Amino acid sequence: MHEPARAIYPGSFDPVTNGHLDIVRRAVENFGALTVAVLRNATKNPLFTADERRDMFDEAVRAAGIEDVRVVAFDGLLVDFARQEHATVVVRGLRAISDFEYELQMALINRRLLPHLETVFLVPGEDVSFISSRFVREIARLGGDVSSLVPDVARRRLDRKFPHPGGATP
Ligand code: PNS
Repeated sequence: MHEPARAIYPGSFDPVTNGHLDIVRRAVENFGALTVAVLRNATKNPLFTADERRDMFDEAVRAAGIEDVRVVAFDGLLVDFARQEHATVVVRGLRAISDFEYELQMALINRRLLPHLETVFLVPGEDVSFISSRFVREIARLGGDVSSLVPDVARRRLDRKFPHPGGATP
C-alpha cells in the first residue's frame, strides 16, 4: 500500500489572506494534514518578519478551527526543506492564468532538483480568488478596509503597521 502523501504549502504569506486559508482547508481535506512553510529568507523585502508571518498564519489557522496544520518558517531551498520534512507533495494555490507561468516554472525547477516531489495546484473559491498579499498591503498602507480580505489577526497587525485616524480597532 502507498504511504499517505505528506504535503507542504510554501509561500511568503506577507501577510496570510483569506485565500491562503481557503487553500489550507482544501489541502487538509485532501491530504489529511499540512505543513505551512513560511519563507524566511525572502528576497522581496517583506513587510512582516518571518516570525510575524509565521505567528499570524498559525493564529489564523487556530482561529478558523482548522486542525492538523503545522506552521513553520524555513530557510534555503524548498526542496531541501521538503527532503527534511519527508514531504512528497508541494501545494500551491492557482488563482488565474496569470499565476500559471511562474508556478509552472517553479514546479519544473523543483522537479528537476527533487524528482519525486510532486507539485499540486489547488484552486481557491471564487469568493477569495482575487485576493493577493500584495494588494492587501497596498490597501492597508493607503488606509483602506482589508477586513473582508484577511483573517482578523492580519487585519489587526496591518492596522498597527499603518495607523490611520478613524481606522479599525487596534
Ligand atoms: O508566496 P510566494 O512568494 O509566491 O512563494 C514563493 C516560494 C516561497 C514558494 C518560493 O520562492 C520558494 O520556494 N523559495 C525558496 C527558494 C527556492 O527553493 N528556490 C528555487 C525554486 S523557485
